[in-house]
Parts: sequence; structure tokens; C-alpha cells
Amino acid sequence: MSSQIIPVEPFDYVVFGGSGDLAERKLLPALYHRQIEGQFSEPTRVIGASRSALSHEEYRKFAEAALKEHLKKGEYDEAEVKKFCARLFYVSVDAKTDAGWDQLKKILDEGKDRVRAFYLAVAPGIFGDISQKIHDHKLITKQTRIVVEKPIGRDLASALQLNDTIGRVFKEEQIFRIDHYLGKETVQNLMALRFANALYEPLWNADHIDHVQITVAESVGLEGRAGYYDTAGALRDMVQNHILQLLCLTAMEIPSSMDSEAVRDEKLKVLRALKPIDASNVEQSTVRGQYRAGASAGGPVKGYLDELEGGVSNTETFVAIKAEIGNWRWAGVPFYIRTGKRLAGRMSEIVITFKPIPHNIFDQAAGRIVANQLVIRLQPDEGVKQSLMIKDPGPGGMRLRNVSLDMSFASAFNVRNPDAYERLLMDVVRSNQTLFMRRDEVEAAWKWVDPILKGWEEAGQQVQGYTAGTWGPSQAIALIERDGRTWHDDI
Ligand code: BG6
Repeated sequence: MSSQIIPVEPFDYVVFGGSGDLAERKLLPALYHRQIEGQFSEPTRVIGASRSALSHEEYRKFAEAALKEHLKKGEYDEAEVKKFCARLFYVSVDAKTDAGWDQLKKILDEGKDRVRAFYLAVAPGIFGDISQKIHDHKLITKQTRIVVEKPIGRDLASALQLNDTIGRVFKEEQIFRIDHYLGKETVQNLMALRFANALYEPLWNADHIDHVQITVAESVGLEGRAGYYDTAGALRDMVQNHILQLLCLTAMEIPSSMDSEAVRDEKLKVLRALKPIDASNVEQSTVRGQYRAGASAGGPVKGYLDELEGGVSNTETFVAIKAEIGNWRWAGVPFYIRTGKRLAGRMSEIVITFKPIPHNIFDQAAGRIVANQLVIRLQPDEGVKQSLMIKDPGPGGMRLRNVSLDMSFASAFNVRNPDAYERLLMDVVRSNQTLFMRRDEVEAAWKWVDPILKGWEEAGQQVQGYTAGTWGPSQAIALIERDGRTWHDDI
């Protein structure tokens, strides 16, 4: 098994928020990996930009420390780090004034013909200011793209505004809206599984599928992001983007090709077909939770309100939803989704449960026949698991047993699994938008989420407490069990 690296054109990546958390944890390590794997063509540069006053040298030191801290054991190579740091530059710019922009232009003018990508790893409140400055200082070339991180708005109105602001300066084909879940290996594998095999597609519909579960469970808590998180909550932070994207890839029709417009057209249709959840049904279809003190990741942990330092908050750190898609393929098939912080483990998966067999020919002694399940595991230990009923081996008559064909990608293929950002950062350079969200997708997702938020407010739906280190509030278990089904908790 070999992986193939296709070099990209020389580029200049300008990272606004270049000395921030995302650059430190994700972007710099991701770019470093792409360098090591030989994907860069020269000359290629990474230019950190933010308000802090740093010299090029100080920025290189910052990057070196970031790599030391965030690379895995054995990945830090002195010579490669030196080479990487030599391509780093830094400018101090202010989004609100003209300070620093001439300096940035001077640096960029040295590479006028290269691909130029502006990465906005900053608060969305200044997306507009930065876009305008990029325009005013004539930094946009034919080869320019802009990359924006979530949150893209906190509701439909603010998302429209944000998209308009960026859209005034950049054309849609220049705008790359990142949802890092789309860069995860298994998410792309979902498309391979569905569209490169003849096996599943004929069964991929309401005739053969009983229900779908999508779980994105985290064991971490707020990780120092209380300020942002308390104004967002799990629905905005995880469902509006990552989970709805997973749902779209699971439920979409077969696109005519992997062309970015073809794929995104199909995802959009799913979002538009989601049945509304509003004040009239929000209490039956959703559960909101908030963690209390408990134990997680091997030790005692504080409750959410204590992490907020005594604050009062009705923000959900957990949400479970019974969603439905109103089209022929999925009529009557519930999509149960749930996500939360401080849960029993870090586990993300999509579980497809097929319908039971129509008629059992075995006698009672053979045992219960369990419906087939396909589990697509995103993390940890990415892979695919298909459960099947077999005859229990050996003597003893016909006894049936539920077994799994379990493929862990890490043990099946001896390749390093790249972080989602690595692929996405290179897709920006290649100008491939397949794994990025189009404007209408983001807006359609908010159109579905907004009435849930409003419904919660109107119904005064309170968060249910759950102990840190568990699978969430008991009401979430009831949400699925009252339909005669259970959450797949097999980690
Ligand atoms: C981010 C959310 O988008 O995704 C975080 O803002 C969350 O709250 C993170 O922790 C989860 O990403 P991953 O890749 O660790 O599952």
C-alpha cells in the first residue's frame, strides 16, 4: 500500500491570527507535515499576520515551539524544522487601520505569480475588515483564495451578513469555508464506501435501512474557550456544521461526479429536505444537556458552571436530536444525532442499522437474529465495521452469532493518517472546493438550526444535567428508546 504525493504549485499562505491557537495547534503542524512529505514546490512561504509585534525571527521561534509541542513523537526533525522556519515570515497588521498593510504588500509582491491564500484564523467579527483591507491594498491577484473558519454566523441572519461581507470582495469560487470534519480520512471513505462499491447503494434507502445514528462524543470540556462556547453551545458549535455535513454525506443522492459543484448540489438538497423542528415539536425531538462535576479522562472534573467560574448558564454542552429527511429515499428513517463534551469517551461514528430480516426460518434455540449494522468510525481508530449473523462455529447444532468484519485503517494500511487540515490546506492551493462548504449550504444549515434555537427559547427548554464521564442525560436515552431502539455505545 503506498500513498501518492502530488506536489502543489508554489504558494504564499498568509495566516491572519498567525500567532493564535489554531495556527499553533493545527495550521503550522499541518504545513510542516506537507513539507516533509514533499508536497511543496519552491518558492513557498507562510506569512503569519496578527496584531502582535513580532519579528520574523520571533515568529520562527514561536513556530518551532508550536511544532515541538504539537507534533507526535518522532515527527520533529531538526533539519526539516529549520527548513520549515526558513519559509516563515511575519507582519504585524491591524484589521481596523492601515498599519502594517504596506509591509504585507511588499512581502507578497515578491511572489506575484504564486498561489496566494489568505487564511482567516480570527474572530468572525473582523472577517469583513480584513477582506476590505486585502481589497483596498490591492492584494488580490488572479490566483488568490480566502479561507474562513467557523463559526460562520450564529444564526441565519448573521451568516447572511458575513457571507455578504466576504462576498463583496471575493467571488464564491475564491472562498473556502472550512469544516475540518470534511478533511477527515473516514469522511472521505464514506464516499468511497457508498460510491465505489456496488454492495451498499441498492440497500441505501428506507426499504432496507431502519435508522441512522451519528455520534460525535468528546471527553474534553471547555479547554479554555468558555467565552466563545457559552455564547454558542453544542447545537451551533457541532451540529450546524460538522454533524450536518456528516448527515449530508450519508444521505445525499449519488453525485454525477466528484466535481465540487456536483457534490455540493447533492448535499444542499439533503439540507433543504430536513423536516423542520420548531416550537411545535422541539421538546419531542431534541434533548439539551449540560455536564455536572464527575470523572472524565481518568480524573475528577468540574461541572460546566464551575468551569464558567460560578456563572449561570442555560447553554447546552450536549444535544441529541431525532432528525428526519423528507424525501423518497429516507421517508420514515430517523437520523438520531448526538454530540457532547465531557462524555464517556472520545468517539465519533456513523452507524447504519439495516432492517430486520422479514421472516425467521430458524428455531428458537438458534438464538436471536440481530439486524445488520455498518459502523463507520471517524475517531479514534478510524475504520469500518460490518456486523453479520453467522453460524456459531463447531458442533452444537444451528446456533447463530452476531460477528463483526472489523477493519481498522491504521492496522490494515501502514500509512500515517494525515490530519484533516493537511488535506484541506492543500486543497485550497489546488483550488479544489469539493471538501469546503458553499455559501448556500451554510445558509441552508442555519435555516434548519434557527427554528430549533427559537423553539428552545419559546418552549423554555432547559438543559438537563448529566454527570461528566457518562453518555449524557437520561432523556437522550429515552429519545431513542421510546422508538424501540438504542444508542450504539460499543467503543
Ligand atoms: C470544533 C469545535 O469545530 O471541533 C470544538 O469548535 C470541538 O468544540 C472540535 O472540540 C472537535 O474536533 P475533533 O476533530 O477533535 O473531533
